[in-house]
Amino acid sequence: MQSKVGVIVGSLRKTAFTRLMARALPELTPPSLKLTEIEIGHLPLYNQDLETESPPPAWTTFRSEVKGCDAILFLTPEYNRSMPGALKNSLDVGSRPWGQSAWSGKPAAIVSMSPGALGAMAANHHLRQVLMAVNLATMPYPEAYLSTVGTLFDDSGRLQSEETRQFLTTFLQAFELWIRKLQGG
Ligand code: FNR
Repeated sequence: MQSKVGVIVGSLRKTAFTRLMARALPELTPPSLKLTEIEIGHLPLYNQDLETESPPPAWTTFRSEVKGCDAILFLTPEYNRSMPGALKNSLDVGSRPWGQSAWSGKPAAIVSMSPGALGAMAANHHLRQVLMAVNLATMPYPEAYLSTVGTLFDDSGRLQSEETRQFLTTFLQAFELWIRKLQGG
């Protein structure tokens, strides 16, 4: 059975490395997982006053897109040693109304990346902490911190690093096993 995996890209930038990475992943992914990007850039900032009988339509659509996925894969850059605000906002939007979190119980995984040397490790761990709060079951191992991400793509945006392709193939195989385990398979 194929599982639908929602891919959330933490950067809103058109040519973001995280978005290039999202585009590179389908061909590295086991056939039993279908990756689908879920956009977060258009979501109004979470404001509990808007949580009425008719919340912002973008929130409602986002919540049902998340609910329609079997698992979630986060690709995050690091902003000031944390995740970008847009990504945190999407987590808050998906977590409400209280008792109806779109995230709850789903398997998740994180790939963080940075042009720097540390692979956005601080963002990865901040995100991991928030995912715990919304009851996403984040794969503990392997961890994915991609450093010097600017060197991994060619001019056309293709992931050219064989080492990274191999690593991500293994990572996604482990994610498939993690999803199956949580599905009771
Ligand atoms: C950054 N960047 C950055 N990089 C890092 O490794 N650690 C950090 O704490 C930060 N902080 C930070 C704050 C802000 C506001 C910006 C705009 C950038 C650099 C960041 O890694 C770089 O811009 C990436 O290219 C952003 O990811 P995308 O958009 O390419 O996916």
